[in-house]
Amino acid sequence: MILGIESSCDDSSVALLSIDGLKLIHHKKISQDAEHSAWGGVVPELAARLHTKALPALLDEIRPFFTKIKAIAVTNEPGLSVSLIGGVSMAKTLSMSLKVPIIGVNHLIGHIYSLFLQSEISLPLGVLLVSGGHTMILSIDESKNVEILASTGDDSFGESFDKVAKMLGLGYPGGSVVAQMALDCKSKDRFKFPVPLKGDERLEYSFSGLKNAVRVTIQRLKDSGKLNQNDISDICYGFENAACEHIMDKLSRVFKERNFKKFGVVGGASANLNLRARLDEICKKYECELLLAPLEFCADNAAMIARAGRERYINNDLSNYKDIKMSPRTTSLLL
Ligand code: KG4
Ligand code: ZN
Repeated sequence: MILGIESSCDDSSVALLSIDGLKLIHHKKISQDAEHSAWGGVVPELAARLHTKALPALLDEIRPFFTKIKAIAVTNEPGLSVSLIGGVSMAKTLSMSLKVPIIGVNHLIGHIYSLFLQSEISLPLGVLLVSGGHTMILSIDESKNVEILASTGDDSFGESFDKVAKMLGLGYPGGSVVAQMALDCKSKDRFKFPVPLKGDERLEYSFSGLKNAVRVTIQRLKDSGKLNQNDISDICYGFENAACEHIMDKLSRVFKERNFKKFGVVGGASANLNLRARLDEICKKYECELLLAPLEFCADNAAMIARAGRERYINNDLSNYKDIKMSPRTTSLLL
């Protein structure tokens, strides 16, 4: 089996995946949401200390399987360097003591493999990656070449939810709570926030202007002495719609130009139901199959890292522990 280790941001996770049957033998995650919530975002130093506590405890639980591990797949980029280093150091130590190869997995590639946890990969494929760190439209050809068609110049889709949640005092992470508040909206036409880069030729994303428009609205309501629950729900609704509209505005151009037969959406923010409904609609329009990861594997997890590692293992794409470098940025995107 392949051992997967994920610690790129604020989730410590470990998984065991069988090489032949793609059976998820073990999967466990310790999330740090509660600890970071008070600060309205991830505090790197705190994240590092929590990984140092969680990762050995998670590994201790799978000790009986150690002799069955054939390779260790670990997220080595991109991410918070102080968080990545926890998983990478542990993977290197284990690789030396168990005498098995180590496979450095790009976190974004890991998210793509969340679509194929229980099946072999099927290409070509279009992908929308929406997480707390990234917003990208990707095209992957039959030979596994990954082409980046669009990405964000500033904030990411998920991050913009986190920042709006912070401004509204809703805690961290903000995605699910903002989406939940939006469901209680009573006045759907009340806040029409500008859709970023609407009508602009550039095929790219930007969420900082939208975030600022939301900030100004919140401030105006605060200054006038009223910001009640109804206001918060209406703001969340207006913001979520503009953010999803922005994603779809650029994506619809890509759909017109590319003849996708399969399109997947991955990353923690792919749990957003408003976005999923819109993607469902566009895929139906273009007679394209929509691939979604099970909800529990949308957010960061080690199962997707083990799955990506298993692909590299069967293709004999392995490394020595000394070759694994850790990088806060993506250095290459290879499926
Ligand atoms: O993939 P992920 O777990 O971590 C990164 O790789 O960044 O994604 C986490 C992000 C957070 O920004 C979180 O607020 C967002 O995904 N998210 C959502 C939803 N659920 C999680 N964003 C929008 N709507 C949601 N329902
Ligand atoms: Zn992620």
